[in-house]
Amino acid sequence: MKTTAVLLAAGQGTRMKSDLPKVLHPLCGRPMIWHVIESLKHAAAGKPVVVVGHGAEQVKAFLAESADCVVQEPQLGTAHAALQAESLVKGKADYVIVTYADMPLLRGETFQRLVETQRLNPGPLTLLTVIADDPRGFGRIVRNANGTVSAIVEEYVATPEQREIKELNVGAYCFTADWLWPALHRIQKNPQKGEYYLTNVVELAVKENMPVQAVLHDDLIETIGINTRVHLAEAEAAMRARLNLEHMLNGVTMTDPASTYIETGVMIGKDSVIMPNTYIHGETIIGERNAIGPNAIIRDTTIGNDCKIFASVLEGAVVEDGVDMGPFARLRKGAHLGKRVHMGNFGEVKDSYLADDVKMGHFSYIGNAQIGPNTNIGAGTITCNFDGEKKHPTEIGADVFIGSDTMLVAPLKIGNGAKTGAGAVVTKNVAEDTLVVGMPARAIRKIDRKKPA
Ligand code: UD1
Ligand code: CA
Repeated sequence: MKTTAVLLAAGQGTRMKSDLPKVLHPLCGRPMIWHVIESLKHAAAGKPVVVVGHGAEQVKAFLAESADCVVQEPQLGTAHAALQAESLVKGKADYVIVTYADMPLLRGETFQRLVETQRLNPGPLTLLTVIADDPRGFGRIVRNANGTVSAIVEEYVATPEQREIKELNVGAYCFTADWLWPALHRIQKNPQKGEYYLTNVVELAVKENMPVQAVLHDDLIETIGINTRVHLAEAEAAMRARLNLEHMLNGVTMTDPASTYIETGVMIGKDSVIMPNTYIHGETIIGERNAIGPNAIIRDTTIGNDCKIFASVLEGAVVEDGVDMGPFARLRKGAHLGKRVHMGNFGEVKDSYLADDVKMGHFSYIGNAQIGPNTNIGAGTITCNFDGEKKHPTEIGADVFIGSDTMLVAPLKIGNGAKTGAGAVVTKNVAEDTLVVGMPARAIRKIDRKKPA
């Protein structure tokens, strides 16, 4: 028995008042349609068929290989939208899930329940409902005297009594495929709005004396649909809470989940502690026993174990075990800190590797540089890597001592065990175990590394 999913995403999303197609508005870092497609994977086989229309090119570009797209043009309502999938799905599935791309919190298990219920239903469809005090403009579920579903009434045509109905149409359906396609063709245009409403399938089934099943869902949060930016913020908060809960259940401590902003897909190892006002975004992987925050902003970064990242900004970086950073340190793209590196306040590292045990305590810029193990970068050190046209590399060896306020004018190589005096402007390569001072810096003596200076 095969189930295919049809996802409706062609509407304009007028109420969002946006140039961006509604279904591409992000939720915890991924477009809302991405979340729906993820959930559908649990209940339907193969790629979903996505009906696109408004902003079709943008939506298709995002979906790429993850879905098969059909274009609905013009957009004449949800039944008309579902019908566009007929040519791709007809004869290829036993059951068809139809749902809306603006319901990103629905879980995979919920779609599964819908399919399982429909498999046992002698009638042609099962739909998802919820009971809520706030109707949010959803269609109302009308039941007859014996309790079976007899219609879905859209809010604007509902009578005052129908408006009082608390059971709402969530917008997820599972159909027996053979029944669905001819039924969609029979749906009449709604006279007031000139659109074809998918919700009319219920009346069609009832007319044929076929039972319509409803799965009454008890999680209101899951059924948050997004029509406005107010809903978007509600859904974002709900999704964030859900992700934080998963991390906590996996062994991550959060001092204040309400001020912890972790995007979808971020991985965090156990016994790491995430302190308040921390943002962890993109493709970020964090190991075990780390202390992150307060006030950390981390994007597309890999962090090992046992690190301390305090009030710092990390983007596109790699941080190995035991690193101690911040407050107010900044790692930019291509920064790589080896084990036990210490980076204090007001340091910036870009496109550079700092090997194990490098210390860079205060006010420094390191760009396009390779720094050997155990080297000390004095306060105020700057790699002058840009000559106005090109970036140039700096290579600093192991056990080097860069004195405070040293300007390293790249391209430049500094040998193992070398030293620079405070305020040196180094314009030429420095040999191993050599002390250079001044502006421009010149060698004044050799250093015996075994003897204390
Ligand atoms: C719809 C349901 C309503 C339900 C609510 C729950 C209908 C008629 N009404 O109302 O009963 O309570 O969802 O979320 O179905 N779309 C197209 N092509 C179109 C029109 C819409 O693809 O021509 C897509 C939209 O992109 C959207 C989805 O269908 O993803 C739902 O459309 P929307 O206008 O948001 O419907 P609602 O008014 O929310
Ligand atoms: Ca909607």
